[in-house]
Amino acid sequence: MKSCCAYSVGVLSILILIAGIAMVLAQVFQTLLYNRIKSEVVLENGTEAFAVWQDPPPPVYMQFYFFNLTNPEEVLSGERPAVIELGPYTYREYRPMKGVNFMDNDTRVAAVNPKTYIFEPNMSRGSEDDIIRTVNIPAMAVMEKYRDSILGHLISDLMKSTNEGLFGTWKVGELLWGYEDPLLKDLHAFNHSLDPNFGLFYKMNGTDDGEYVFYTGKQNYQDFARVDLWRGQSSLDWWTTDQCNMINGTNGASFHPIITKTEKLYMFSSDLCRSIYATFESELSVRGVPAYRFVPPSKVFANTTVNPDNAGFCVGGRCLSSGLLNVSGCKQGAPIIMSSPHFYQADEKFVDDIFGMRPVKEEHETAIDINPLTGLVVQAAKRLQVNVFIEKLTAFSQTGNVRTLVYPVMYLNESVLIDEDSAKTLQGVVTQANVVINIPFIIIGLGILIGVVFIVLICRQERSTPDERQPLLSS
Ligand SMILES: *[C@@H]1O[C@H](CO)[C@@H](O)[C@H](O)[C@H]1NC(C)=O
Ligand SMILES: *[C@@H]1O[C@H](CO)[C@@H](O)[C@H](O)[C@H]1NC(C)=O
Ligand SMILES: *[C@@H]1O[C@H](CO)[C@@H](O)[C@H](O)[C@H]1NC(C)=O
Ligand SMILES: *[C@@H]1O[C@H](CO)[C@@H](O)[C@H](O)[C@H]1NC(C)=O
Ligand SMILES: *[C@@H]1O[C@H](CO)[C@@H](O)[C@H](O)[C@H]1NC(C)=O
Ligand SMILES: *[C@@H]1O[C@H](CO)[C@@H](O)[C@H](O)[C@H]1NC(C)=O
Ligand SMILES: *[C@@H]1O[C@H](CO)[C@@H](O)[C@H](O)[C@H]1NC(C)=O
Ligand SMILES: *[C@@H]1O[C@H](CO)[C@@H](O)[C@H](O)[C@H]1NC(C)=O
Repeated sequence: MKSCCAYSVGVLSILILIAGIAMVLAQVFQTLLYNRIKSEVVLENGTEAFAVWQDPPPPVYMQFYFFNLTNPEEVLSGERPAVIELGPYTYREYRPMKGVNFMDNDTRVAAVNPKTYIFEPNMSRGSEDDIIRTVNIPAMAVMEKYRDSILGHLISDLMKSTNEGLFGTWKVGELLWGYEDPLLKDLHAFNHSLDPNFGLFYKMNGTDDGEYVFYTGKQNYQDFARVDLWRGQSSLDWWTTDQCNMINGTNGASFHPIITKTEKLYMFSSDLCRSIYATFESELSVRGVPAYRFVPPSKVFANTTVNPDNAGFCVGGRCLSSGLLNVSGCKQGAPIIMSSPHFYQADEKFVDDIFGMRPVKEEHETAIDINPLTGLVVQAAKRLQVNVFIEKLTAFSQTGNVRTLVYPVMYLNESVLIDEDSAKTLQGVVTQANVVINIPFIIIGLGILIGVVFIVLICRQERSTPDERQPLLSS
């Protein structure tokens, strides 16, 4: 009777163990959980993911740092520029999706994404009226354009009459949001299509950059919020026809759920006129939420010897060295070159060329931290430097004896950090998920526990059996 009971316990233990192990092997609970998440991370009126995509709750900040030139005369006579970093000049960035329109049975959604920038004095060091001495970008662009033209000397005289040189001073607000340039104004009289205003973010406040069509992720969760069309063109066509375009972009940064460490994440950056990718770097915790950090590998900016994929960025047979991207073609021919701030990860020579460059990984890299389970961005910092290609042009006395330089004007840090409330919600989701995924292991633990009970029962029986026999023998 007792041994029968003990053996039932043993059988139960083995059944539970088998069930537990089967669940681990079949990944039943994981599949259930993943399916649940995949069905929730969809751009659909009513889902949390849609609300976040439409109007991201955590504040996005755009911070600008300018380089103030201290020795313009010496630079014109061929010496190294010495610059002092100023800033941050911080703006809160609002980027809601507007004109949201679902199409094709809700598998795609069209929208525009205007960005508005509001100055944040409390998060800034200095004001928009601070004076910055830097390179005269419109003048350098015009001089490059007419370097070999018979009009060169005429334009040089025009610049002398308005007292414009290679360097000048402007307010932070002017450099960012636009000012009327005397040279451009003069040229505008001959060519009305030329805008007399110039600014690094001119006309970019409150305006959108055209209509996007996104996948909702309803058909395939990996397509969640992925850009299908921009301005009516397919992303794949742009890549082949126009280097100023994106491939597999996700405007802003929302990624599909269930991200693995081996994945390449594509991000579109209109400043770079292309999409770049990031690869897994490390695991970390952001406000208590587990995250994977993805960073663009140095290969992304490598020269063509190291990464032949970057051949698209050699223009007219001229390739730039590692760490630099010539985006002149996307900036109306202005000789603009992008890099990481302080030429982080670029060729050593660019750092050496400018007195005041101190690249630091933690401060100057672009990084994006994603909660791998939900694909939500918990922290991100996009960091880019705007440089101007400067060289001596014989037709223009304004360029003096200047060295050939990649001259840094400013860099930006566009960053976001998950808000406390969203972090708490996400912590809850992650905890629940961990419990669900561990159910099979809890079952296996239970099986082992019952197995131990079985062994104890058997041992006690073995010991008690002789005692039971003794009375039988004595009688
Ligand atoms: C979402 O639903 C709400 C009410 O149900 C409606 O007012 C809103 O227009 C819908 N949004 C879209 C983009 O369809
Ligand atoms: C939308 O769904 C309906 C019925 O399920 C189908 O007949 C139609 O072809 C679908 N349309 C598109 C554009 O997928
Ligand atoms: C951008 O536009 C908004 C609203 O039109 C305005 O409040 C804000 O001051 C503008 N920002 C800049 C930098 O001009
Ligand atoms: C930048 O340099 C110029 C010229 O030396 C100077 O007038 C200006 O005050 C400096 N800007 C700041 C914010 O220190
Ligand atoms: C873009 O995505 C498509 C489909 O997801 C894929 O086939 C293609 O290789 C991707 N392109 C790049 C450049 O990664
Ligand atoms: C590309 O970079 C590598 C390593 O930095 C260097 O050895 C090589 O000379 C560079 N090639 C060109 C064409 O600049
Ligand atoms: C950058 O590209 C433009 C054409 O888009 C070209 O004219 C210029 O020479 C290039 N600059 C450098 C420094 O390679
Ligand atoms: C942005 O990056 C700069 C350095 O590149 C750093 O000083 C600043 O604190 C960063 N801003 C935020 C909000 O993380």
